Amino acid sequence: MEVVIRPTEADAVRLTAAILADDLRKNPEMVFGLATGATMEAVYAELTRLHREEGLDFSTAKTFNLDEYIGLPADDKNSYRYYMNKHLFNNINIKMANTHLPNGMTDDIKGEGARYEAAIKAAGGVDLQLLGIGQDGHIGFNEPLSSLASRTRDKSLTPATFRQNSIYFDPPESMPLRAFTMGVGTILDARKLVMLVTGERKADILAKAVEGPVSSMVTASAIQFHNNVTVIVDEAAASKLQGKEYYYWNFNHAPEWEKYR
Ligand code: F6R
Repeated sequence: MEVVIRPTEADAVRLTAAILADDLRKNPEMVFGLATGATMEAVYAELTRLHREEGLDFSTAKTFNLDEYIGLPADDKNSYRYYMNKHLFNNINIKMANTHLPNGMTDDIKGEGARYEAAIKAAGGVDLQLLGIGQDGHIGFNEPLSSLASRTRDKSLTPATFRQNSIYFDPPESMPLRAFTMGVGTILDARKLVMLVTGERKADILAKAVEGPVSSMVTASAIQFHNNVTVIVDEAAASKLQGKEYYYWNFNHAPEWEKYR
């Protein structure tokens, strides 16, 4: 795992988007795993800018999102399909048929996970999975005690996640309490993981996930098992990390980071 600390949120966002863009330029048929949430909005704004101003071409890319609320239709402004269309898909030249999220309105809740897994497999697997981290340490909606081998399935959300996300709902109580999410095992199958974490409120949970023991109580800690992980953070989120000196040192000296410095 590599941890990269950038001075500000804007720098961390730019680096994250630059890594996605570079991979897409190298492989125009990239399969991206995507995340939603407040942290990612700026990443999608930057990818939109790169498309508009630098011609970044998404025409042969495919995407699979991590999660979707159960019971929200695509046109509900709190569904993750609505979020993705608004923040990214409507603004770039991706083919909508190549964008995938779990179907939150399915009649077959127990079958949806297997259907989604089969679609990921048919696309050749995820090349680069973008991740955020929840206040309770979740990746996707893999809440504490999710099996570290879990696959895409329906999941009951925690009170912490309700507190984090219900602010977007009107009234807050209308937030669904269940969601589909890729499993931790599904996420670990991606060929590369890029996690973006910003802001002081994430400092404690980031330190647990990155430097703490691997535990299903903090499902983000499972990324320690993956052999190609970059965690990009701003100074505020990095404030509780023990290895800061090394992380700065590595970014400032390692040749693979030269073009991003
Ligand atoms: C959403 C997802 C979640 C978020 C996490 C952080 O698709 O995967 O794990 O990344 O809840 O959300 P924000 O960025 O809103 O703090």
